[in-house]
Amino acid sequence: MYKIRPLQLTDKPDILEIARHTWDGHDYLPYFFDSWLKDTDSHTAAIEVDEHVVALANLRIIDNSQTGWMEGLRVHPDYRGTGMATVLTKYIVEMAEKISVARIRYTTAAGNEPSLHLAEKVGMKRKFTYANHWQNQLDKISLSSSGQLMKPVSPMIYYDELHQSKIIPHSIIIYDWKAVDITPENIQKIGHLANFWIERENNEVQSFSLGFVKEGKSGPEWSSTIYTSDKIHFLNQVSNHLAYALSNKCNSLFLIYPLEYQETLYELDWVRIWEDEVMEMVLLERIF
Ligand SMILES: CC(C)(COP(=O)(O)OP(=O)(O)OC[C@H]1O[C@@H](n2cnc3c(N)ncnc32)[C@H](O)[C@@H]1OP(=O)(O)O)[C@@H](O)C(=O)NCCC(=O)NCCS
Repeated sequence: MYKIRPLQLTDKPDILEIARHTWDGHDYLPYFFDSWLKDTDSHTAAIEVDEHVVALANLRIIDNSQTGWMEGLRVHPDYRGTGMATVLTKYIVEMAEKISVARIRYTTAAGNEPSLHLAEKVGMKRKFTYANHWQNQLDKISLSSSGQLMKPVSPMIYYDELHQSKIIPHSIIIYDWKAVDITPENIQKIGHLANFWIERENNEVQSFSLGFVKEGKSGPEWSSTIYTSDKIHFLNQVSNHLAYALSNKCNSLFLIYPLEYQETLYELDWVRIWEDEVMEMVLLERIF
């Protein structure tokens, strides 16, 4: 028998145990657990069996109460395949409907078949797909592969250019595995965490990017998103982010970028190609 309830502080050891078994221990859950409990916009759901949490998820209300953001869906390996993620996903969607958000959104890796299946089972549809790339052991890359550090711009300048640009479809900006609507408030909020860069040519913006340091299991990691109009500006941004990752002493780099530049990235001699992994992320959405 199991019961569903919100997470509480005393669940931390169980959460750490689940995270230890997820993605070789590279799970971000331990870094978010405390903030979810303090955040009044977060609605956590946990499945408890024999006084232990064995599955969990969070629904965070964002975009000025317009979006329910589903995140952190995890089931302890001993309980996978028993329908617990299905129960939690349905529970989170029902909670979002009750809170009266306009939509629910979720991102997952395009290769994560059970996760995509679960989202589609509750009526979420694929809205867009971006390529991503994970590069570790940055210390082995020669500094000459990185470019000049570009000068960051303020969140307000970034917003002014971004919201009228055709480079970014859907008016949604992605950072790490999260996505928010492009609004002045959201860009300000991301600005507390990240820096923003713009590349102009003939007074027209040709590329946008953002990047920040996040704490990972093996030390600081650089996480970045690039939006671009062409290959040249894509490559400029990639080398800018590699330069920032190195100057921030990060040993790994996570890049999110438009799918059509995947081949271009793989042509770079320092880029490691992950043969057996789909390096793409999908944003799923259900409109209520
Ligand atoms: C993804 C995860 C939450 C699923 O948990 P689970 O307890 O196995 O899920 P359930 O048993 O409720 O359901 C899994 C569903 O996926 C389906 N599934 C499993 N493998 C699949 C595959 N390769 N392709 C398509 N569907 C698949 C199952 O058949 C089941 O669907 P059904 O009930 O319609 O038959 C769990 O594997 C996990 O914690 N993974 C690590 C973290 C993660 O990936 N989280 C989600 C993305 S952030």
